[in-house]
Amino acid sequence: MTIVPETGSPRLALHGGGPVRAERKPANPLISDAAKSEVVEVLESGTLAQFYGGTRVRRFESAYASRFQRKHAIAVSSGTAALHLAYLAARLPSGSEALLPANAYVSAASAMIQAEIVPVVVDIDPLTGAMDPEDCARKINDRTRMLVPVHMYGQPCPMPELTTLASRHGLVIIEDCGQSHGAPSAGRLTGTFGLAAAFSLCCRKHIAVGEGGMVITDDDASPKRSARWRTRARGRTGSTTGRWATATTSRRYRRCSACTSSPGSMKS
Ligand SMILES: Cc1ncc(COP(=O)(O)O)c(C=O)c1O
Repeated sequence: MTIVPETGSPRLALHGGGPVRAERKPANPLISDAAKSEVVEVLESGTLAQFYGGTRVRRFESAYASRFQRKHAIAVSSGTAALHLAYLAARLPSGSEALLPANAYVSAASAMIQAEIVPVVVDIDPLTGAMDPEDCARKINDRTRMLVPVHMYGQPCPMPELTTLASRHGLVIIEDCGQSHGAPSAGRLTGTFGLAAAFSLCCRKHIAVGEGGMVITDDDASPKRSARWRTRARGRTGSTTGRWATATTSRRYRRCSACTSSPGSMKS
């Protein structure tokens, strides 16, 4: 196939010619009419917050969990929030080290720092751009507790090798699936290999709801803990009514129901 640049240049930009497109095309998500009417339904219902109802958020969570055959899906406000909650679910001692690939989105590291985990950067395979298991093995020491494969551009990290390495060294795996919704590795979906996986649902992701994120896990303790963290740390301690008591710090990571439209793209 011959690519003819819009700019009329006979050579690729790489070789000194003009760019293929004169202007950058907006990466707008495709939103179906059905999804639009569901958003309008939510707006007309008057129940805009997950906190006061959240039936649509719960429906979305359960569709997500069943798509990945995980017991729980926890919807939050961003992929970065999802990573932070997934790391907290690992309950690592402060100062633990975690391995992540050099080719990653910054949130995989910044959410670690927020969770008091020290990021240790691992080399990538120059051909695939994915995390290199051999360099992972070289970077493991007695403080290493977690391995975070970040599957960039839909390209899965080599999960069979990484899971073998993790189980040999007793490391928790948390996958960053911010760019790999539905990408398989060794016949399984990315996001199903570790203790938990975090997804971004922001405006340019495979499932785009504006801003949003999702944690999936089989860990039964995670939904309860995450629900507490994503809301406002409500607990029963210290309150005379029990209603507005605050038991711990909160992150305000919850979803808006109107932004959680019909997850149509999950069906494909
Ligand atoms: C691989 C990956 N992980 C995490 C994130 C963070 O997601 P968010 O922007 O929704 O916080 C992104 C966002 O671009 C990403 O590409």
